[in-house]
Amino acid sequence: MRPLLLLLLATAHGLDTLDYTPTLANDESLGGRLTGSTFVLEQPRCVFEMDNTSDIWLVVATREGREHFNDSAQPGMPEWSFHRFLTNSSSYLTLGAMLYHYPCPKPSGELTVLRVGSETSCIDDTSVPNCNGPLPNPGPYWVKFLALNASGPIATTQWFGPIELKKAQPIPSSSGAGVVRSGAMIAITAILSVLLAVLLAALLATLCSSEACGVGSFRPDAASIRRYNTHHVYDQPAARL
Ligand SMILES: *[C@@H]1O[C@H](CO)[C@@H](O)[C@H](O)[C@H]1NC(C)=O
Ligand SMILES: *[C@@H]1O[C@H](CO)[C@@H](O)[C@H](O)[C@H]1NC(C)=O
Ligand SMILES: *[C@@H]1O[C@H](CO)[C@@H](O)[C@H](O)[C@H]1NC(C)=O
Ligand SMILES: *[C@@H]1O[C@H](CO)[C@@H](O)[C@H](O)[C@H]1NC(C)=O
Repeated sequence: MRPLLLLLLATAHGLDTLDYTPTLANDESLGGRLTGSTFVLEQPRCVFEMDNTSDIWLVVATREGREHFNDSAQPGMPEWSFHRFLTNSSSYLTLGAMLYHYPCPKPSGELTVLRVGSETSCIDDTSVPNCNGPLPNPGPYWVKFLALNASGPIATTQWFGPIELKKAQPIPSSSGAGVVRSGAMIAITAILSVLLAVLLAALLATLCSSEACGVGSFRPDAASIRRYNTHHVYDQPAARL
């Protein structure tokens, strides 16, 4: 009885709040359920019971946008556009579709997911306010579905979140790799300086053997150069790379 009563009360205000919470797609085979700028949700099948020409919209919000979201949001208005979200707002509406696009029960074998952030062609096109453009940063984001008809909002789901996207991985990705890398740099520097020394020695040797320098004691010892070379290159742990 209680849920029914609550439902009736909510309906009196023209807006049903449904128990349904959106979820990330559970099909691991999709590949990239979460990327740096997109995420994949299950379609809201068998969630809304209303006129099948009602519009179902996805609300994407930041933490702040979730707190301040007004269910009277009007899709297509600049205030709730993807482009405003990028610069100056905390929520937007996208992926509007009439309810009959989400038939219930879902036909078996049909792909029933929504990829949020997959549309790149309208990123700069403010004439497409409900652009499903790539999300600007790793988030976190919250989402819910909102159903509207010509009279206004008629139903909304629960919020789902936080959704944290993949962060761009700095290279090297771990301090261990950083150590290896700087080790490699040291090894390269060492090799270069050894090569330079060898070249210099060879130059001196050439000069001296042509008797231009005239002093025998400047003649470098070829064996000691080779030992120096070996020592410096192979003592570096990173040289194992
Ligand atoms: C939500 O928006 C509607 C229409 O723009 C407005 O009348 C209402 O006061 C707003 N509600 C809140 C809580 O801001
Ligand atoms: C951001 O939006 C508010 C209203 O929501 C507006 O007053 C302000 O001028 C906007 N700022 C920019 C930089 O667009
Ligand atoms: C909408 O639902 C009605 C019956 O409820 C059905 O006859 C009609 O074909 C549906 N429209 C679409 C586009 O599915
Ligand atoms: C919108 O939906 C509400 C609730 O289902 C209904 O009472 C109202 O008549 C509908 N408005 C239109 C224009 O279909």
